[in-house]
Amino acid sequence: MKLAVVGATGEVGRMMMTCLEEFAVPVASLELFASARSAGETLYFGDTALTVRELDAAGMRENFDYVLFSAGAGVAREFAPIAAASGSVVIDNSSGFRQDADIPLVVPEINGSLLQGYRGIVANPNCTTIQMVLPLAVLDRLFGLTKLVVSTYQSVSGSGHKGVATLQDQRAGGSGKGIYPDIIDLNVIPQIGAFADNGYSQEEEKIHFETRKILDLPDLEACATTVRVPVYYGHSESIYAEFASEADLALAARELKHAESIAFEENTYITPCDLGSSNDSHVCRLRRGPGQNSLCFWNVGHNVRLGAATNAVRILLKHAQLAGRI
Ligand SMILES: NC(=O)c1ccc[n+]([C@@H]2O[C@H](COP(=O)([O-])OP(=O)(O)OC[C@H]3O[C@@H](n4cnc5c(N)ncnc54)[C@H](OP(=O)(O)O)[C@@H]3O)[C@@H](O)[C@H]2O)c1
Repeated sequence: MKLAVVGATGEVGRMMMTCLEEFAVPVASLELFASARSAGETLYFGDTALTVRELDAAGMRENFDYVLFSAGAGVAREFAPIAAASGSVVIDNSSGFRQDADIPLVVPEINGSLLQGYRGIVANPNCTTIQMVLPLAVLDRLFGLTKLVVSTYQSVSGSGHKGVATLQDQRAGGSGKGIYPDIIDLNVIPQIGAFADNGYSQEEEKIHFETRKILDLPDLEACATTVRVPVYYGHSESIYAEFASEADLALAARELKHAESIAFEENTYITPCDLGSSNDSHVCRLRRGPGQNSLCFWNVGHNVRLGAATNAVRILLKHAQLAGRI
């Protein structure tokens, strides 16, 4: 297949190339795009050296089978429609299209059927949402999800390369705040994105909206508190879920154990440092909530893999499979 990655030099773009290899995507050709800043740089796909090109409209008209975008919402809004109009299927990691009613927001294990016969732009959800909806979808099918309360502990790589550089600088003694509203080293910051008039941050509003859209639960009660922590890779989440019917703990554990893309950690837990190159959503410390109809659990996932590149490549593979391309 003829592929392109836009934002190839970024945290997600580089991981997309790794995932294309790891998932054995049949790549006949691969073009890499980024800004003028890194045009001319060399990146490797396996043993093949590839030169990064400056993103422009002409490049997006080259008619790829798939274009994987991870260059932010502004870039996506300008260039993804050009690629889509030229016949490429676009998978975009930004928030640029997630709220559009006619753009599918896809986690393939949950709503991959939306890709059947679909052409155009597909939106990849927010990293915190992807890892959380995988187990929530299993529990929703069992008991009927009605309410969600989640607090997140999000790593600095979730802000891209500048987030990683900010923490590295402060760890080395730098006193600048970098890209965050406060010092992140040895600290936690309960703000990710700007606050809206209702008191919720942009990241919190993304979780509310995207969870309802992916699970097709428009009336789901949801309350998120998103927090940046001084961890390089891996997001953690404390989740309280309430259901329409009694939540049988043993049944929940059994189903989660066998669910696709979920690692169920029985009687133990993992931390972001334990994630390595895992592409799974790790469900730990599953327990009863305060009422018969509720459950609590701890959830850990690799934000750049599962939360971005892995899900994008899984979308590509699912689409290609449904379209008979592979
Ligand atoms: N990091 C995560 O955990 C995560 C998870 C889910 C979704 N996302 C989303 O994925 C996207 C990329 O995130 P990231 O973490 O990879 O960020 P990043 O490390 O800052 O990388 C940004 C990439 O976008 C490119 N870019 C920036 N401006 C551009 C322009 N005008 N034209 C073409 N390319 C441009 C950069 O190229 P240069 O090198 O030339 O600057 C770089 O390749 C964002 O929309 C982000 O919200 C990230």
